[in-house]
Amino acid sequence: MIRKVKGTRDILPPDSRLWFAVEAVAHRVFGSFGYDEIRLPVLEPTDLFVRSVGEETDIVAKEMYTFADRKGRSLTLRPEGTAGVARAYIENGLGQLPQPLRLSYLGPMFRYERMQRGRYRQFAQIGIELLGAATPQADVEVLLALHSFLSELGFDDLIIVLNNLGDPEDRVRFIDGLKAELTPNREELCGDCQRRWETNPLRILDCKVPRCRELVTETTPVADSVSDAAREHVEQVEAGLDALGISVQRAPRLVRGLDYYLRTVFEVISPKLGEDTVICGGGRYDRLISDLGGSQVPGVGFAIGEDRLVEVLPDAFKNTILQRPVVAVLPIGVEAVAAGLEITRGLIGAGISAPVEVTGRSLKAGFKWASKIGAQVVVIIGESELAARTAVVKDLKKSKQKTVALAEVPVFIEELLLESAVD
Ligand code: HAM
Repeated sequence: MIRKVKGTRDILPPDSRLWFAVEAVAHRVFGSFGYDEIRLPVLEPTDLFVRSVGEETDIVAKEMYTFADRKGRSLTLRPEGTAGVARAYIENGLGQLPQPLRLSYLGPMFRYERMQRGRYRQFAQIGIELLGAATPQADVEVLLALHSFLSELGFDDLIIVLNNLGDPEDRVRFIDGLKAELTPNREELCGDCQRRWETNPLRILDCKVPRCRELVTETTPVADSVSDAAREHVEQVEAGLDALGISVQRAPRLVRGLDYYLRTVFEVISPKLGEDTVICGGGRYDRLISDLGGSQVPGVGFAIGEDRLVEVLPDAFKNTILQRPVVAVLPIGVEAVAAGLEITRGLIGAGISAPVEVTGRSLKAGFKWASKIGAQVVVIIGESELAARTAVVKDLKKSKQKTVALAEVPVFIEELLLESAVD
């Protein structure tokens, strides 16, 4: 037997229905805020991620699926979506479109990570990026879109944490301070951090080795060494969110694991999954597009981990999606199948699931199948019904049945299901 690759998942029905429903809500909510979907390649040149996410990040240094294609070009299965959006913005001249540009995306990402609950090697993200607006109000809009999406799904226990990373210029000062504070214990840092010390000291802050974590907690938080402009920016973001009734908590040690961020960074935590398995991460990245060779285009956005989100979906949302009514159509004899399929065709508009029995089962076996698939209503078309162009519609919940003209069956079922939804 061939098994799936470690860290990948088969999303099976009926769970796949939850995924579809979540994505439909994302399109609707983000669409309302003006975001249009961009569909990007899963394969990108390796350099794109090295230059955007950063060479010293865990993602680039340890987790990428990178390989040479048949011509020896280094390609990478995308580990995240923002870099691809920035590349596409530059390559397609999207600066010509009305600005700011609002883009959404969803799809698979790949990171070679240690397996654990909520952590996969192929996982899906749903994200939005707002390009061409540098104001704090743009951050507020993005966070409101995030909050609205989560509210539409019925979440009420999620926590948004936020921090201020300052500007790259502030970081020079911060790193000097950080190094000074860590110098007495420098020898105790792990091997990776010894290297980061020289190449990218900020990344010491998101090292997962316990001793490094301990040493880091005693240092001055990054938000303490930001410029006045950056401080004001994030304060205005907080004030804007406050005015909208969205509560966020300050997380002075939050730095995020990607190099392109500046000023506002944030994450969403679910009490059910804990702080190490965040649902969503995002922030501002005003230098990313210019660092990749484009013009000065500021950006802000986030990505939600869809696997994690689906895992903690509120029951009310799950139930409405999973308990959709099912109608089992039971034609008895081959001649009745076409009439059965007509009924299904008549229910397409109402979005009612009405599979037809097509294996030639007896009525008794047909009822067993109907009960296994959770049918609430069964439609029987026997020989005499077919001759009379009628069908018997049986409500299994109420144990009531009625003979209905074939042409009327779809409307009759719609009304029946509507009534039982009200009951
Ligand atoms: P990130 O924090 O690396 O940010 O990933 C965003 C989300 O993807 C995480 O919060 C998590 O829910 C999910 N995720 C990441 N790795 C895994 C995994 N191995 N298994 C399951 N879920 C995972 C970014 O990717 C940025 N591009 C976000 C962004 C967009 N910033 C600005 N715009």
